[in-house]
Amino acid sequence: MTKRTLIGPFKQIIPMTGMALKGAIAEHELQVIADGGIVIENNLILATGNFEDLKSKYPAADIQLLKGNHVCLPGFVDAHTHICFGGSRAKDYAMRNAGKSYMEIANAGGGIWDTVTETRKASIEELTKNTIKRANRHLKNGTTTLEVKSGYGLTIDDELKMLRAIREANEKALPELIATCLAAHMLPKDFNGSEKEYLKMISEELFPVLKEENLTHRMDAFIEQSAFSADDIQGYFTKASELDFDITVHADQFSTSGSKVAVNHKAISADHLEAITDTEIALLANSDTIAVALPGASIGLGCDFTPARKLLDAGAALAIASDHNPGSAPMGDLLTQASILGTFEKLTNAEVLSGITFRAAAALKLKDRGKLEAGLLADLAVFHSDNYQDILYNQGNLKPCMIWKNGELVFDRHKAP
Ligand code: NIG
Ligand code: FE
Repeated sequence: MTKRTLIGPFKQIIPMTGMALKGAIAEHELQVIADGGIVIENNLILATGNFEDLKSKYPAADIQLLKGNHVCLPGFVDAHTHICFGGSRAKDYAMRNAGKSYMEIANAGGGIWDTVTETRKASIEELTKNTIKRANRHLKNGTTTLEVKSGYGLTIDDELKMLRAIREANEKALPELIATCLAAHMLPKDFNGSEKEYLKMISEELFPVLKEENLTHRMDAFIEQSAFSADDIQGYFTKASELDFDITVHADQFSTSGSKVAVNHKAISADHLEAITDTEIALLANSDTIAVALPGASIGLGCDFTPARKLLDAGAALAIASDHNPGSAPMGDLLTQASILGTFEKLTNAEVLSGITFRAAAALKLKDRGKLEAGLLADLAVFHSDNYQDILYNQGNLKPCMIWKNGELVFDRHKAP
């Protein structure tokens, strides 16, 4: 049966409509619907507009009346996370802050390999449970869609275990989880062969199972001196494209070459980009590949931020994601990180909010969310405020008070235990 609900009145609705996918956005381009309402029908938005007008137009709709001042945004989309993992890397973090180098940390048993060891030890049930717990924490901070990568298994069976855990977690978690295969995260220390041999084995033995079980349609690789070279990845991505996987790349985090591969392979997104120069900026700006900044990794590692201002001014599409992972980005708070990136990179509210809504949805090739407009998913993040500017001004400390996912009120801070 059709269920119609009118939610409001909101002091402001920020629908994130009418803005370009690429390039800089001035503050005044951000549309504001004052004294607004949203009519939802089942899981979708039916209409947005003035609350009183909508009340007359849809007299039969149930009314979810809001008291006090509220601002409504589309639920956030976090286009890059690694929240399916075992163990903790608190020791790495302490060592790094005590001045130890990457190699010293790795030699002391830390780094990505530590998480691979712990993730291999974990049962699928434990991985599922922890992924749900982390995803639901993201939801309370406004995120209604999260991408989640594998990449801590690095054998056929362990990568499958992770991707099956992510699928299972998606059944139960409040946000929607979009899985990505990151079997090309690093050459596993116990693999007896070269990088190219490892990637060949993955493409021949894992890709078909991913298709058969419909575990993911996204393929990622870490292109870096400590992981895989552009040359190693060439054949891997060609094979992935032939099988219709969407490509995304961990690119140019410490050294350049990844974003060039991303653009050549028509990747949906190139993520990280802390080390990019004007050459890569121009390359990305002239492509359809979305640049994804990961300020959580810069904060976690104490490194430079991705040059977001330059990317936008050159005309690139910029999304912002949390990169939540146990090593480089343990915080996992997208709104806080996006606010901080905005401060350091001099981004307008419109640019930061686009980066975590419709531009982030585009980084996952999702056309059904990221804006508040008729026909899209009713994913809403609602804040107690009379001015949307309060949200980034509070740098993540103003948390949403209500979250709707697929038309359901799934979190209400007033009623939260
Ligand atoms: O996106 N850069 C490579 N991979 C992850 C880090 C993973 C880890 O340290 O466990 C990232 O930052
Ligand atoms: Fe990452």
